[in-house]
Amino acid sequence: MQKRPIKIAPSLLAADFSKLGHEIAMLEKAGADWIHLDVMDGHFVPNLTMGPALIRSLRSLTSLPFDTHLMIDPVLPFLDPFAKAGSDHIIVHVELEGLTNLIKKIKELGKKPGLAIKPGTPVDYLFPYLSDLSVILVMTVEPGFGGQSFMDGPLDKIRTLSKIIQEKELDVDIAVDGGITLDNAPRVLEAGANVLVAGTSIFQSGDYGQMIGALKNAYPD
Ligand code: DX5
Ligand code: ZN
Repeated sequence: MQKRPIKIAPSLLAADFSKLGHEIAMLEKAGADWIHLDVMDGHFVPNLTMGPALIRSLRSLTSLPFDTHLMIDPVLPFLDPFAKAGSDHIIVHVELEGLTNLIKKIKELGKKPGLAIKPGTPVDYLFPYLSDLSVILVMTVEPGFGGQSFMDGPLDKIRTLSKIIQEKELDVDIAVDGGITLDNAPRVLEAGANVLVAGTSIFQSGDYGQMIGALKNAYPD
């Protein structure tokens, strides 16, 4: 497998929401590549988090790309507000209907489209859309909550996607989201992912720079 540079996308879900501005500054200094924003609606997933207003208020604090993971249904009416709030990547779930239209709309808004896939969803659901995507987000926990344990099952999906992307020479990032730690990162990277989304492991590390550096270098020799 050809090695790609590893990017780290801290998930703000695990941050102290009373000091998000400070946390973003710390993450940027610590070498984060993207900021991952988990948007939940209490319907598509059984939890509520943030909306466009919060994202808009964070936008001026960093130039890092905002990687907005929408766990909401319906999603179409909210694409415009999340784009205007300053999202760079807009990721919707492959389990939703009307994906062709959603992807088209995200592109029309000038944003990079992504598709997220839950642990139990077959990888071939993604196949019709691969050439239209900038990011694939492979979930290694059931979406809805931070701090869950990593599931090994989706590693096969990462291998399959990585092979197709290389064969077809597609410019698509394979990001992995859920329970990422220094223990499982080598397996995830070896399977072919090039972006690690991590919440709990970064925010509970006590030293963001050291943890982000260690995750970036977790590729096994
Ligand atoms: C789960 C979210 C993830 C998650 C990451 O629904 O999409 O981004 O919160 O956090 P950790 O690393 O704590 O699993
Ligand atoms: Zn996420």
